[in-house]
Amino acid sequence: MQVPQLLVLFGSQTGTAQDEAERLAREARRRRLGCRVQALDSYAVNFWRFIFRKSLLSTSLCQMDFAVLGLGDSSYAKFNFVAKKLHRRLLQLGGNALLPPCLGDDQHELGPDAAIDPWLEDLWKKILGLYPVPLDFPEIPRGVPLPSKFIFQFLQEVPSVGAEELNTASSAPQRPPSELQPFLAPVVTNQRVTGPQHFQDVRLIEFDITDSSISYAAGDVVFIMPSNSETHTQQFCQLLCLDPKQLFMLKAREPGVPYPPGLPQPCTVWQLVSQYLDIASVPRRSFFELLACLSPHGLEREKLLEFSSARGQEELWEYCNRPRRTILEVLCDFPHTAAAIPPDYLLDLIPRIRPRAFSIASSLLAHPRRLQILVAVVQYRTRLKEPRRGLCSSWLASLNPEQGLVQVPLWVRPGSLVFPETPNTPIIMVGPGTGVAPFRAAIQERVAHGQTGNFLFFGCRQRDQDFYWQTEWQELEKKGCLTLVTAFSREQEHKVYVQHRLRELGPLVWELLDRCGAYFYLAGNAKYMPTDVAEALTSIFQEIGQLSKPDAAAYLARLQQTLRFQTETWA
Ligand code: 2AM
Repeated sequence: MQVPQLLVLFGSQTGTAQDEAERLAREARRRRLGCRVQALDSYAVNFWRFIFRKSLLSTSLCQMDFAVLGLGDSSYAKFNFVAKKLHRRLLQLGGNALLPPCLGDDQHELGPDAAIDPWLEDLWKKILGLYPVPLDFPEIPRGVPLPSKFIFQFLQEVPSVGAEELNTASSAPQRPPSELQPFLAPVVTNQRVTGPQHFQDVRLIEFDITDSSISYAAGDVVFIMPSNSETHTQQFCQLLCLDPKQLFMLKAREPGVPYPPGLPQPCTVWQLVSQYLDIASVPRRSFFELLACLSPHGLEREKLLEFSSARGQEELWEYCNRPRRTILEVLCDFPHTAAAIPPDYLLDLIPRIRPRAFSIASSLLAHPRRLQILVAVVQYRTRLKEPRRGLCSSWLASLNPEQGLVQVPLWVRPGSLVFPETPNTPIIMVGPGTGVAPFRAAIQERVAHGQTGNFLFFGCRQRDQDFYWQTEWQELEKKGCLTLVTAFSREQEHKVYVQHRLRELGPLVWELLDRCGAYFYLAGNAKYMPTDVAEALTSIFQEIGQLSKPDAAAYLARLQQTLRFQTETWA
């Protein structure tokens, strides 16, 4: 008899949805069902557009059973909008819903699993009703590990070159670099741009892109693939009793499992650990589930089983998520288990390092063959002794181009900000802190094209500590190419922010938007800044533009619809 096949499609930005999809697949395998897991957009190019095509018939899915699991956050107005809409669409296409959609909620104190766990139980009842576990092939109990996705074949020969030199990523100019084939860009400068008294280390990092086919415009974004630090890589290898120089080939256990993207073949353990395994991330529940299965140590196994059970979730949250404990730190707490992890399971256990996006801060017209970014080095404390450090920003900050060739895997994509090409359209840019980065690119580009009407609202704490590109702006002002408005939040008793400056200059802002057709841009990472700035704008529309409150809101909405109000914000 043919094994029934489940298809699990996921859309994932941070990896949570992918993790849930893989959890489903594991549960399917335990129940002897075939299961394929695939990213939505690799199943159908632009899945969302595909599934909403008018030409699809209401009978297209008439033979199909489906269930939709959504991951959302009830503090947003459109809570689980995508899941609800997809569920309705699949019904419309004639699909048979096994269950109402599951609405996972990040706001729940136990996270989305609080809704997912009971929903999955119901889902399995439904599925097993349709496809019972065969009697001669019983269910594989929890606590017994499923076969790993990959098999490691260790090679006898240890290469004579250093493990780190084996990188196969190409730096020859070919197709534009992408996630599958990043460009290894030499770092030219890595310079701290905040003063010694400033709380944060912010770096201006410059890459040489001469030998690539990369081209970019203002508003574009560069993706960077970071590595783990040498110390962490070594520590991990020691804990797991792995020889970092050992060379291996990977073989998928079953057909159809794609080779891990970006991983060389053959590969050294050092490459795998430093460039691929995200050991500095906070582990998910599935990590504890599998680790428990692999643990040979009674006490450790008991604790791991508790962390992976439904009733252990509060304790797991306190142990892991709240203090942001990393995979590497967890493994240090479970040394007997760590030492016994079979390498075959590494790729099931540990997610891959994800690329990070940065707004490009330079223009090719001002810096030919170069690409610059402004990076705030992420560091904060929790109750753990060691401060928490952002993987990518700390790694970038650690690179020293004066010690020889240092290369960073990267590629460029269009960002969300688009600037007008017409020569006389003014632009108002609001970019406090590192939010100014994309606007530096835009200003350099516009100045090179002779475009006037560049208005920049910049906010920082103190002019002598974190006023990025101060002299550059001042020179542009002298030449009449830029109007700069500053807000120094900590140079006086009370806070002065960019939105206060906007309000002060309300008549100018209104004139530019309403009379001159200006575009308005907002970028940055302050939590409340985007809403505060939008509020300042609507109050200008009311006070200076004499609009009623609803009309002011509608005015802003119209600006947004016509791309004359654009934002790029990050947490
Ligand atoms: P603060 O740190 O003194 O509060 C860049 O980070 C600048 O943005 C800093 O001057 C910071 O001020 C300021 N900032 C913080 N919160 C803000 C908000 N809600 N709106 C505008 N600017 C803000």
